[in-house]
Amino acid sequence: MSDTMIVTIDGPAGVGKSTMARLLAAELGIAYLDTGAMFRAVAWRLGDGVQHWEPGRLEEELGWIEFSLEGSGAETRLRLNRNLVGDEIRTEEVGMWASNVATMLPVRGFLKSAQQNLGQRFSLVAEGRDMGTVVFPDAPHKFFLDADVKVRAKRRYDQLNGMGKPADLKALEASIAKRDEQDRNRAVAPLKPADDAVLVDSSAMTKEQVFARILEVVKG
Ligand code: DC
Repeated sequence: MSDTMIVTIDGPAGVGKSTMARLLAAELGIAYLDTGAMFRAVAWRLGDGVQHWEPGRLEEELGWIEFSLEGSGAETRLRLNRNLVGDEIRTEEVGMWASNVATMLPVRGFLKSAQQNLGQRFSLVAEGRDMGTVVFPDAPHKFFLDADVKVRAKRRYDQLNGMGKPADLKALEASIAKRDEQDRNRAVAPLKPADDAVLVDSSAMTKEQVFARILEVVKG
């Protein structure tokens, strides 16, 4: 048994999970784990076309990958081997690759162990799609954030613009809707709320209101 503390935040693309995870981790003085970044980093490293690899190659490539975490709160850093996972993974294209590799059993198995190992060593706010259902089913606090797809597309659009990356709102909305549908309907670890998750629909809420609701639950 480990005595780390885990809070899980799940939800669809662009719903603000990372923002909430960072804020909560800073408030609690623990690290946050962006598991979407782990899927994105693996997808980025393996490249497009991994679906067509011969048997065994995927497992072998995954065997070369190790994730580590350092720091806490907003200063938490994720590394793949020695490399900091940075903004190169933050495109909608890499998001779609990530959603594709996320349907593959060896990738899910590998990342589930990597995430659980980190959870044994660090108290975490862990965000993703299956944190409360599959990876940390015993977490004492679980949240499921949701919001209308149009609201999420606009938020992602603003986020990309803020990073100086070109974006097309309509294309983003279509891509996010497609990714949601793939994440919700895959056979293994589909996106869905854990039975004991607190549901928060943030469509008509400000960031501050969502965070206040989360804090209220965590601090009891
Ligand atoms: O949260 P994100 O948009 O960065 O995640 C990218 C993709 O990774 C997402 O579309 C599905 C996959 N993913 C997953 O399957 N399970 C997780 N826990 C996190 C992400």
